[in-house]
Amino acid sequence: MNNLPRVVVLTGAGISAESGLKTFRDSNGLWENHRVEDVATPDAFARNPSLVYRFYNARRAQLQGQNVKPNHAHHALSSLASKLGNKLTLVTQNVDNLHEQAGSPSVVHMHGELLSARCSESEKRFYWEDGFDDTTPCPCCLKPVLRPDIVWFGEVPMYMEEIYTALSQADIFIAIGTSGQVYPAAGFVQIAKQAGAYCVEANLEPGASNALFDASFTGMASQTVPDITHKIINNSLIA
Ligand code: APR
Repeated sequence: MNNLPRVVVLTGAGISAESGLKTFRDSNGLWENHRVEDVATPDAFARNPSLVYRFYNARRAQLQGQNVKPNHAHHALSSLASKLGNKLTLVTQNVDNLHEQAGSPSVVHMHGELLSARCSESEKRFYWEDGFDDTTPCPCCLKPVLRPDIVWFGEVPMYMEEIYTALSQADIFIAIGTSGQVYPAAGFVQIAKQAGAYCVEANLEPGASNALFDASFTGMASQTVPDITHKIINNSLIA
């Protein structure tokens, strides 16, 4: 067990695209059809909470629709977790739960989760119940201060200390299905590289930081990710 590599995986919207969920910046992506400043900022929520709730309710309904299931890429990462145990840190920018549905035991949701609500005052989290809105009394303080448990633009992502610790110890860093345009996640490759990790990108096309990666797997995540995880398990990823 001791010679297994320490691996940090970062996933973005591209890994869930083949499961039927929209990405943000591809054509017809979420940010082509909605303005970030209307639905994904603290100001937007203060100004028009109903609109923000509607946006996330629609995404939650889509996630819970019958046709949305984890794909081969999510399953490959779950199998990798069963081989590497706590030597794998799976960080996602995604707010869906497809990694969990595929069986990944521990997922670091740095941008929050669609199926969770948070008290704006105590930061306590609750499983999302149908009908939650800005008038619902929070289960902890009974005030109407529940919000979607999503990290909006202008807010600090969650679990950063845990993520930076894992990056500083990584032997391998893999970024999957992310355009590399949103920080701090876009900067993880630099931190992993400084720590001496072998850095791999798996994307439909080279992302913004492609030049920093040691290897690039271009194509659909459902095909490239099982290939990458197979190579890690066989110790043949690093040429
Ligand atoms: N397989 C692999 N990659 C894919 C696939 C696929 N089937 N489909 C799309 N992609 C790639 C796209 O080429 C693109 O580079 O996934 C990437 C998706 O990029 P974005 O839409 O920018 O999503 P992401 O990088 O996850 O966005 C980061 O931005 O708006 C915020 O909080 C939101 O977490 C999100 C963050």
